[in-house]
Amino acid sequence: MLILGIETSCDETAVALYDSEKGILGQCLRTQIALHQQYGGVIPELASRDHAYYLPPLLRDLCAEAGISLSQIEGIAYTAGPGLVGALLVGAMFGRSLAYALKIPAVGVHHMEGHLLVPLLEDPQITFPFLALLVSGGHTLLVEVTQIGHYEILGQSLDDAAGEAFDKTAKLLGLPYPGGPQIQQLAQQGESGRFSLPRPLLDKPGYDFSFSGLKTAVLQLVRSQTELDHSTKASIALAFQEAVVDTLTRKCQRALRDRQLKRLVVAGGVSANQALRKALDDLLKKEGGTAHYPSLPLCTDNAVMIAYAGHYRLAKGQQGDLSVSIHPRWDLTQIP
Ligand code: KG4
Ligand code: ZN
Repeated sequence: MLILGIETSCDETAVALYDSEKGILGQCLRTQIALHQQYGGVIPELASRDHAYYLPPLLRDLCAEAGISLSQIEGIAYTAGPGLVGALLVGAMFGRSLAYALKIPAVGVHHMEGHLLVPLLEDPQITFPFLALLVSGGHTLLVEVTQIGHYEILGQSLDDAAGEAFDKTAKLLGLPYPGGPQIQQLAQQGESGRFSLPRPLLDKPGYDFSFSGLKTAVLQLVRSQTELDHSTKASIALAFQEAVVDTLTRKCQRALRDRQLKRLVVAGGVSANQALRKALDDLLKKEGGTAHYPSLPLCTDNAVMIAYAGHYRLAKGQQGDLSVSIHPRWDLTQIP
């Protein structure tokens, strides 16, 4: 089955073609980073307009590059949530209208299910059950996955998401958006042990996370410095990254042991972080299991993951009716 995936939940406009037999046939992605960078964060109305403007030419480019005509597409999967209302509506309207014109089924996909499932596309060694750590700009979730569609949320962030904490800390250090890759790069020049930051909620039972206090601790550290030179910034970036990585790793260890799981799947934008990958690889080696990550282009938002998650749902006969419904807030366990 040939599926067109459409992703517009935040600041990436993306389309992709996934064939259940041949795999990924192509993808086109346009990031809005430059558009939002001057504001230090995503401006929802600008995001919606940009999605509406660029979706048609991106689809045209995708079909031309993949040598596929619209009439060959057999199903459409679009992100129905969670995300920005206007941005989601643009992708959903586009997907629904195109499906109506082509007389093919369309289904709304949960953005985090896309992140969660895409490692399976690249790595056939991933089998159920597994523990999933989903770390993006909007979510931090620890999920026990027994089957596709069977998700038990063990823990989540009570305030800022891990990616959001990277972005806000980067802003405090005068680094551009998105902050994750910037912090990772700067941290490489930091001096280990020069600063130490708190590991929130580690002493409490359970698997929830909290990152807003860490951001406040960074703010206080920044303010307490008489001179915020390059090497000081680098050491703060390193201390921050160490605190986030340590917190995520120890919660994963707790969940792996309690649930007796030997497989960890990490996904979402923050899963691109090399320090996090190293810490989790070390942990799984110690626990006698394996950690799996998507390739770097599939860590951050993309339409391949939406096409891939959508193909499972379309293959099961799931499809929406003509009405366009989106879910800006959407619990992963509430997917039909
Ligand atoms: O999954 P994603 O592309 O979008 C959402 O669904 O939110 O994640 C974006 C987040 C941003 O907060 C970005 O700063 C973070 O992922 N990120 C990283 C890295 N690359 C992207 N965080 C840490 N290290 C990275 N290398
Ligand atoms: Zn995402």
